Amino acid sequence: MAEQKINNIDVTDYPHINRGLDGIVAFSTTKSSIDGKTGELIFSGYHIDTLAENATFEEVCFLLWNDRLPNKTELDELNQKLRSKRNLPEPVLNYIKSTNKKAEPMAVLRTAVSMLADFQDDDADDTESAIAITAQIPSIIAAFDRARNGKEIVAPLKDGSTAFNFLYMLNGEKPGQAAERTMDLCLVLHAEHGMNASTFSCRTVCATESDIFSAVTGAIGALKGPLHGGANTAVMNTLLNLKKQGDDADPVAFTKGKLERKEKMMGFGHRVYKVFDPRAVHLRKMSKELSEETGHEYLYEWSEAMVKTMKEEKNIDPNVDFFSATVYYSIGIEPDLFTCIFTMSRVTGWTAHFFEQKANNRLIRPRALYVGDKNKEWVPVEKR
Ligand code: CMC
Repeated sequence: MAEQKINNIDVTDYPHINRGLDGIVAFSTTKSSIDGKTGELIFSGYHIDTLAENATFEEVCFLLWNDRLPNKTELDELNQKLRSKRNLPEPVLNYIKSTNKKAEPMAVLRTAVSMLADFQDDDADDTESAIAITAQIPSIIAAFDRARNGKEIVAPLKDGSTAFNFLYMLNGEKPGQAAERTMDLCLVLHAEHGMNASTFSCRTVCATESDIFSAVTGAIGALKGPLHGGANTAVMNTLLNLKKQGDDADPVAFTKGKLERKEKMMGFGHRVYKVFDPRAVHLRKMSKELSEETGHEYLYEWSEAMVKTMKEEKNIDPNVDFFSATVYYSIGIEPDLFTCIFTMSRVTGWTAHFFEQKANNRLIRPRALYVGDKNKEWVPVEKR
């Protein structure tokens, strides 16, 4: 190979330097397929629209873990297992009650999930651990929200769906059918999404032959950032800050101002989608309907004004985090919990990828091009 140089550095041994690993295919997977040009998203063979219309979150869990839909008996069994694992170990509950009430919910969730590892049955395999983590994450989120607001922690139900039980534990009262369906659909839509940063983190930890709790804990840390799952909280904060401007609130001027200052509009843009995110199509519809039901029409109208302005000014569409923000807000969830809700769902994709990585593992170990000095002379500390 002919010698190649970047900044006068020999890069012959580093033929591919892709910032952000853009366009690099690191794995093959049966978990999901994303076509960024047409906006097509498939989970283990099923189009996201088909799943949005027909599937429950628990069916999607089974699908991602097994690459097929469950029959009735299998679904009942999974539901039963999830329900039986909802209770949190006492030390985890004590941590949640005693931690700083102002702590970031995602940071608390990350620590609590890491603690769960110490309380698993000795003979639990990865599948059982994945079920336990999926069952316990909603309990952690609800318990922390109640504890920080000085409310009694509500014990999980022994029946009901993940969505129903979560809203019950969070609010202390059983949700109506519409709220349960909204939450369930949000969980279905967020469950899996290719080689996003948190899933890549999960697979990277798995590839060192570390354990599933470490992999999920690492993934939560990655999802927390505002360029990834943290964007949904950032979107809501943007809208609520705009509301503070009262009659002067102008979403179009706000969007143009951000672009002029070269600032990011949260909830817009995507590494893979160059068209409307197919998940956002469903969330947009839900956001519209819920905003009308709950008197938050202005939030929906501002959102649409931002979408139009971003399209006209930058040809950039919203991603999953844009309309999910107003959906969660309309069903009464605190903005700083939004990324935790994302986690409740995405843990199924992460764990599915954990199984896939483990079944066909190779250490993930890319390289970095060293651009620093070489052969510097050592100077004793007193002479530096
Ligand atoms: N607001 C304004 N400009 C943007 C945005 C945005 N949200 N996203 C991309 N751009 C511009 C960017 O400034 C650049 O413009 P130019 O070519 O003039 O310099 C161009 O679009 C290409 O952007 P990029 O930064 O190369 O895109 P990327 O693939 O590296 O980043 C992204 C993707 C999602 C990090 C980015 O779009 C972003 O920061 N969006 C806002 C945060 C967000 O909503 N994140 C959620 C992502 S989707 C769900 C999830 O993973 O959780």
